Amino acid sequence: MSHYSIAVIPGDGIGQEITPPAVAVLERLAEVIGTFSAEYTMLPWGSDYYKQHGVMMPDDGLETLKRYDAIYFGAVGSREVPDHVSLRGLRLKICQGFDQYANVRPAYLLPGIPSPLRDKQAGDIDLVVVRENTEGEYTGAGGRPHRGHPAEVAVQTAVFTRSGTERVIRYAFELARSRPRHHLVSVTKSNAQEFSLGMWDEIFEEVGADFPDVTTERMLVDAMAARLVRSPESLDVLVASNLFGDILTDIGGAIIGSLGVAPSGNINPEHDYPSMFEPIHGSALDIVGQNIANPLGMLLCGAMMLDYLGQPEAAQRLTDAVQAVTGAGHTLTPDVGGNATTTAVCDAVKAALG
Ligand code: NAI
Ligand code: MG
Repeated sequence: MSHYSIAVIPGDGIGQEITPPAVAVLERLAEVIGTFSAEYTMLPWGSDYYKQHGVMMPDDGLETLKRYDAIYFGAVGSREVPDHVSLRGLRLKICQGFDQYANVRPAYLLPGIPSPLRDKQAGDIDLVVVRENTEGEYTGAGGRPHRGHPAEVAVQTAVFTRSGTERVIRYAFELARSRPRHHLVSVTKSNAQEFSLGMWDEIFEEVGADFPDVTTERMLVDAMAARLVRSPESLDVLVASNLFGDILTDIGGAIIGSLGVAPSGNINPEHDYPSMFEPIHGSALDIVGQNIANPLGMLLCGAMMLDYLGQPEAAQRLTDAVQAVTGAGHTLTPDVGGNATTTAVCDAVKAALG
């Protein structure tokens, strides 16, 4: 039997509400399936930690995390800490520090969850966005000289390297090859950003030559925003830069009914470092403290994590349990039209595991 050590970072806001019951579901899953065991270590990093220590995580935080097989992450962001401090001090530090260059974000319409789009049935929307996750617009290169003076300049440089672009595009091609439709769309804005995304386009063509079995398209990001709403069923795998992937996946969350049901994995494909699994949503401060946050995105992250760790049967069992609960339709949180609590949904999924 395989054993895993998982670092758990609930973080802030609803991260603290969805993470503990989701871990309890994973513990129950291990009991019923019997193919693996796991130990979960809670790390109290986030905005409360920042208020006490002036940093979102300890200086040796990455050293600590390196000892784990994977990281299960809730969300960060609070009213007391500026968003760029909380995001960069924790999530981006881990993604960049652990070279988790492929942020894999599936958007799958679950049974029983209404899409805001007309006539969409379960499975009609089944796409994955691969978002470049270590460079691009979120590299953190730039500065603000002459602060506060009329001459103040703000420079935030998007950084694209050939190697960084090539590896994430290759990852997306491999993913497209592994899915039934073998279709990949590269999303850029190379008409306006001819240097960085012009290079991206060229690399997309070069890498594509190695994947003759994958059909491809190139599309500008604004047109893709419209297509995600008008005909998401025409999409299989998308690959995009850090910023574009971030924005498009909130549309992805919206069209599958809620940001709260969309999982993601920050993947280091070479397994040089642990990968990190987190729902795509943030700390949802507008609903915090009410026990109504949707935990399904967090649970589906658990399934992605188990798949990544080499437990595909366990992953499938959990996904099936989630679908059984949404399909039954009576234990759903308010964001997807129900009136159940976070805890009740996790209990229902636990029961559905058998
Ligand atoms: P958000 O994703 O937290 O919330 C957007 C909307 O979706 C809100 O109305 C919220 O109630 C709803 N929502 C999100 N997750 C939900 C869930 N599980 N169940 C039910 N409803 C849900 O984005 P927002 O409001 O822009 O940001 C709030 C904070 O989160 C900010 O501090 C931001 O910086 C941070 N953030 C952190 C992220 C991360 O940790 N990866 C990602 C995005 C935002
Ligand atoms: Mg986002």
